[in-house]
Amino acid sequence: MTASAAVREARLWQRHAEMARLGATAKGGVNRQALSAEDVAARKLLASWAQARGFAVSTDAIGNLFVRRAGEQHDAAPVMTGSHMDSQPTGGRFDGIYGVLAGFEVLEALEDAGIRTRRPLEVVAWMNEEGSRFPVGAMGSAVFAGRLALDKALAVRDPKGTTVAAALAETMAAAPVARRARIGGPVAAYVEAHIEQGPRLEADCRTIGVVTGIQGSRRYAVEVTGEEAHAGTTPRAARKDALSAAVAVVAALETLMEDPTDTVRFTVGRFEVFPGSPNTVPGRVYFTIDFRHPDQAVLEARGGRIAAVAAAHARGCTVSVSQLTDVPPTVFAPSIVDLVRDCTAGLGLPYMDMPSGAGHDAMHIATLCPAGMIFVPCERGISHNEAENATPADLAAGCRVLADALTTLANR
Ligand code: GLV
Ligand code: MN
Ligand code: MN
Repeated sequence: MTASAAVREARLWQRHAEMARLGATAKGGVNRQALSAEDVAARKLLASWAQARGFAVSTDAIGNLFVRRAGEQHDAAPVMTGSHMDSQPTGGRFDGIYGVLAGFEVLEALEDAGIRTRRPLEVVAWMNEEGSRFPVGAMGSAVFAGRLALDKALAVRDPKGTTVAAALAETMAAAPVARRARIGGPVAAYVEAHIEQGPRLEADCRTIGVVTGIQGSRRYAVEVTGEEAHAGTTPRAARKDALSAAVAVVAALETLMEDPTDTVRFTVGRFEVFPGSPNTVPGRVYFTIDFRHPDQAVLEARGGRIAAVAAAHARGCTVSVSQLTDVPPTVFAPSIVDLVRDCTAGLGLPYMDMPSGAGHDAMHIATLCPAGMIFVPCERGISHNEAENATPADLAAGCRVLADALTTLANR
């Protein structure tokens, strides 16, 4: 029996339903942000399933969670798969968790079929991929890959001022797991399954996206500081209105990012006004910028002008721009892209090659070892939305491709 033939669609779907209860929202999505009580519950559930199958569970100093099925050669570098269990505040039931559960299904399928592999296989739930609570996305995989220093990551704060270090200590106390001696590899190869989060596979009636790479991305935090004043008495000329300045800055940045080819992705997703009182002129505004493009030269040219454009529209306020992340475009290893394509074709599934617009943990792990990704269709391309949806059959199809790819890699 092959690994893919042992994948059980109903079990994979049932596990999604069980995970979707943790942080379930009224509109059918999930709110399971990194290192929250809901994340703790998800960690406990995954660990309980792993222990029931005799798989080893461990964590590292940044809170990545590993489930390991031993290989015949115990000390060989493992083949890894996985994704993330944290979600957006109004997230869907598949973004991230699919990659973890598909990986876990592969481990169970191999176990059921009695298939041994030469190398160990590990499923990883990477910590804080979304970056919605702690504003550095793909944090756990970046630390694992040595692209982000551990102490820098631990010092990042959520909007309430809680550090990653404090939230991680609470999480580890609530869901204790054996701690690994060190962070990072070696890793023999990495393959991540994910829903597409865009409309192309559904529109083209393809079941599998063979992912060739990921566009580059940068995040910035912008702080505009003016002066609080009485809304009824302060003349316009005497105001340092941080909101007026921030609105002008955002408008100027929209102009900087104009692109007739519609390839640039520019988003201001968090915008906070202080003190937030109707009759006080705002003294401070905080907002975030998410900027993406497949071409490093464009990221550098336009990203490099953000601070100057912001300063030029400050309207008497001060503007400080800090860059939080800088991830160059990723090109996946041809050996993994070809393997994913071959496994897909071998199963007779319709597929297309495609780049990823969204960021994924694979972009960091690709700096450690040959890496690639498998996409499955996402209903109407809707993601980062509680309405996100996928079919049990498509999820199982992606899992079967993953099963054959991982088994091949684990026997190399
Ligand atoms: C991940 O969710 C991203 O922001 O691309
Ligand atoms: Mn994701
Ligand atoms: Mn996401």
